[in-house]
Amino acid sequence: MGIKLVQNLEERRAKAKFGGGQKRIDSQHSKGKLTARERMSLFFDEGTFEEIDMFVKHRCRDFGLENERYDGDGVITGFGKVNGRTVFAFSQDFTVFGGSLSETFAKKVCKIMDLAMKIGAPVIGFNDSGGARIQEGVLSLGGYADIFLKNTLASGVIPQISMIMGPCAGGAVYSPAITDFVMMVKNTSYMFVTGPNVVKTVTHEDVTSEELGGAMTHAVKSGVAHFAIDNELKAIEQLKKLLSFIPSNNMDLPPAVKCTDSPERKEIALNELVPENANKPYDMVKLIELVVDDADFFQVHEEYAQNLIVGFARLNGKPVGIVANQPLVNAGCLDLNSSIKGARFVRFCDCFNIPLLTFVDVPGFLPGTDQEWRGIIRHGAKLLYAYCEATVPKVTVITRKAYGGAYDVMSSKHIRGDINYAYPTAEIAVMGPKGAVEIINKKEIAEAENSETKANELMEDYRQKFANPYVAAEHGFIDDVIIPANTRPRLIRAFAMLENKVDTNPKKKHGNIPL
Ligand code: HXC
Repeated sequence: MGIKLVQNLEERRAKAKFGGGQKRIDSQHSKGKLTARERMSLFFDEGTFEEIDMFVKHRCRDFGLENERYDGDGVITGFGKVNGRTVFAFSQDFTVFGGSLSETFAKKVCKIMDLAMKIGAPVIGFNDSGGARIQEGVLSLGGYADIFLKNTLASGVIPQISMIMGPCAGGAVYSPAITDFVMMVKNTSYMFVTGPNVVKTVTHEDVTSEELGGAMTHAVKSGVAHFAIDNELKAIEQLKKLLSFIPSNNMDLPPAVKCTDSPERKEIALNELVPENANKPYDMVKLIELVVDDADFFQVHEEYAQNLIVGFARLNGKPVGIVANQPLVNAGCLDLNSSIKGARFVRFCDCFNIPLLTFVDVPGFLPGTDQEWRGIIRHGAKLLYAYCEATVPKVTVITRKAYGGAYDVMSSKHIRGDINYAYPTAEIAVMGPKGAVEIINKKEIAEAENSETKANELMEDYRQKFANPYVAAEHGFIDDVIIPANTRPRLIRAFAMLENKVDTNPKKKHGNIPL
């Protein structure tokens, strides 16, 4: 081949890599943001990224756009390796028409999604865009819809993760919303259906972009973001860590790593961690860290609905998804937001063959008009439904309270918990002793000479009879009462036994989870 042809190709490539030009690249940097290409090169293992459709250009002939055509048309797409595994990604290039989405842009994204589905590899989207390309009108809207459909069809087949690294507004938010995880960068990214100006016109509220849809707003208030990270470099690091727990597709097992933490490690501190006094709080995260490999627990939705903890860790090198009540926050009760948070996480793990480990210390569902009127029945049912339908290995440890309906919900034996353990401190009952005697012994207490002494006596009776793990163990609802210090080895043996578990649900088009 003539050297000229090679040179010509190299020149074309160099031009394409320049996006919307140096001025716009500088402007991107001045906002504290990386360029689309810099994000890709940080994400993929060095030298592994293969770009697709670098020379695609838009086809718009209106508003003077026919004279402004950039190679790649505002999105970089392709595949490469991340820690040795194949991953697909698209990265919206804000330097080209503000990363806005055109017909051809959408086609590029759909092309890599189709490839990823065929080979079974995750798709990561780096979002930084002004939304629909205004000059293309309905062609752009159609392009979004094409992506939404692909996102939906890929859901549960390949993992999809959305990185929000700039604007993501209007209907554009719905692609990330369908994906499995949304990670936002603090101060430089935002997501909203309508921006502050429209909000001002319609509701007369004064709100900044950051307050309306910044990373912390979505991490703490709305739950749209699973992660809010300080800067782009850290976000890409966290993204890689997240991927390390997840298989490439729904037919694969999650990737195991070599474990240097002894599987037989006993943790004496666990014998003291859960206070005997059922009203005293303790930190469930500490308990989890004492149990899992190298105390390495990767929380998801850390800032949202903190009365329930969800996240990934490894036991003997193998990933598990952990769901746990947090007694430090609202006594670990289940409410609307925590039910939704838990349900989504349980369903993700079940889609992708990640075994579920549940730690239970729950006084019940949160009472009150606010919860009832906003639909705790409907939303609480989501978590119940998610656990019921999950067929991955499920191991449960009741550390203390397991009261009422929440006992059933939190991966109990009755809804296909495979191995259910309890600590000696466990109290498995319809409700706590105080509430129980006030209902069943109301008359007796009222008529007693000293009502308080009588109530205390009755509570002690109730505690002896029900507020312990042994009644449940007698019925086989608890497989064993374990010494807390032995939690790690007992869990590792349980999960090893369950490794070849096969369980299925009845054949159907799909269930009807109470949305
Ligand atoms: C075409 C766009 C664009 C868009 C930005 N640009 N958004 N071009 N279509 N949607 C271009 C600008 O003309 C400019 O071009 C460059 O991108 C950078 O934009 P700036 O405004 O200079 O940048 P900045 O000040 O950082 O503001 C960024 C922004 C703002 C907040 C995103 O550009 C903006 O408000 N854009 C419009 C957002 C919007 O309303 N989109 C439609 C949403 S509705 P030059 O040549 O100067 O570099 C939607 C529907 C999706 O998306 C529906 C799916 C179902």
